[in-house]
Amino acid sequence: MLVQTFGAAIYGIAATTVTIEVRIDKGVNFMMVGLPDNAVKESQQRVKTSIEESNLKWPGKAITINMAPADIRKEGTAYDLPLAVGMLAASEQLPASALEKTMIMGELSLDGSLRYIKGALPIALQAKDEGFTRFILPEVNGPEAAMVEGLEVYPAAHLSQVVAHLKGDVPLQRMVIDTEALFKERIENFQFDFSDVKGQENIKRAFEIAAAGGHNAILIGPPGAGKTMLAKRLPSILPPLNLSESLETTKIHSVAGRLRRDDALVTSRPFRAPHHTVSDVALVGGGGWPQPGEISLANNGVLFLDELPEFKRTVLEVLRQPLEDRVVTISRARFSVDYPASFMLVAAMNPCPCGFHNHPIKKCVCHGDAVQRYLNKVSGPLLDRIDLHVEVTPVDYEELLTRPSSEVNSKDIRERVIKARLVQQARFADHAAVHSNAQMSSSDIRKYADIDNDSREMLKNAMKRLNLSARAYDRILKVARTIADLACSADIQQPHLAEAIQYRSLDRESWAE
Ligand SMILES: Nc1ncnc2c1ncn2[C@@H]1O[C@H](COP(=O)(O)OP(=O)(O)O)[C@@H](O)[C@H]1O
Ligand SMILES: [Mg+2]
Ligand SMILES: [Zn+2]
Repeated sequence: MLVQTFGAAIYGIAATTVTIEVRIDKGVNFMMVGLPDNAVKESQQRVKTSIEESNLKWPGKAITINMAPADIRKEGTAYDLPLAVGMLAASEQLPASALEKTMIMGELSLDGSLRYIKGALPIALQAKDEGFTRFILPEVNGPEAAMVEGLEVYPAAHLSQVVAHLKGDVPLQRMVIDTEALFKERIENFQFDFSDVKGQENIKRAFEIAAAGGHNAILIGPPGAGKTMLAKRLPSILPPLNLSESLETTKIHSVAGRLRRDDALVTSRPFRAPHHTVSDVALVGGGGWPQPGEISLANNGVLFLDELPEFKRTVLEVLRQPLEDRVVTISRARFSVDYPASFMLVAAMNPCPCGFHNHPIKKCVCHGDAVQRYLNKVSGPLLDRIDLHVEVTPVDYEELLTRPSSEVNSKDIRERVIKARLVQQARFADHAAVHSNAQMSSSDIRKYADIDNDSREMLKNAMKRLNLSARAYDRILKVARTIADLACSADIQQPHLAEAIQYRSLDRESWAE
């Protein structure tokens, strides 16, 4: 008998339906066609023992399995369940009619229990779009799939439960989640608050500007100055995610296999801090069977690169394209996939190899052009995409001991950030591709961050005095636009420009002297 059952393959963050045909004839061969990879081919053994462990019969005859469309590669272990169900239906241990309009995915353990699969959310979205009515999947994946409205989701713990359900003996319990309500009721718990940081009010101000305009930032300062401590507090002042951002980021985490039952919906902006030994594949994504990297896991959140000059040059270079395009494309001979990668970059570094260049008290012991060479490691194209250079001077040790906690807290900063974001939302309402000041193109800058002749004169003079290179000009205007937005000012005024100019220290031609 020939039966049809349905599973799905994941491409990027989308799914494609895979039709699995199972046919059982007289004979003894087992044959699988339609571009399955080794993990899928090996499923025969898992499926066989699972079926036997569930007190069902392995159809010991000639089994032919065809997976269509044939030109897409079927990868991994998640086809175990649809294959098992297909074989049981083809050997008339299940009614084949129960498989109609039913998406089925799940990995089987040898004892028949069902294990976590990757990409349950995109599969559920695709299934609903294509008119499937049901989705049967492992229990741990239930909440992810149940985010999708209009699809009946049936989580199961064991093959025998799926069989009992399909036979109509013991129905599985349908999982229903009101995604909007879940999202609305989310509790945002931030691990760290800016009030923990004593002093450093100017740095907190720089973070406020970065968060308000979506500007990438780099912190430069000696060891122990608090750079890492400060960066970890950025998520606490970013505006909350909206539902569509939350779902997009959740899809990426679903495909990467990172969601679990209790946190099936990503409701807070991610903060990813890969170590400097990270490979370029782990950072931007890729691999034989492509997986999203750190920059995509940071989508709609923050990517923090601590000790920036320690990262391999090749790793920093692969960041350039996604920083520009907010998406990363991974190309393979037969296909290519896109992963969203819209993130705020925050980097931290020492000013020189010894760490004490420009230090108020300690002396830098670096020789010759060591400081310039150190800077060159990060300069160029990557630095070109960073709007704010923030110099962090350590708070005096005595002061750290005696000073009370700061009065500047994350909640207050965040309120101002949210207000400034609203101004930008209105400004870029007709702009599909631009959401924040940091994303403005040169022509946007001419249009939205225009300044009068006097201000232009003042800006040019100040740049000359500070020895800033010409490339700093547009960056200063973008940041000044955000500072004006924080001040609820329609025009960019001279004090806004004067403040923005302070954030270009790495452009100073005298930096490394
Ligand atoms: N302004 C500050 N307020 C409170 N603690 C601070 C401050 N600056 C530094 N510290 C303390 O010093 C430690 C080291 O800071 P860290 O962020 O690791 O410095 P860096 O990354 O610049 O080397 C912090 O974990 C914190 O305990
Ligand atoms: Mg540090
Ligand atoms: Zn030094």
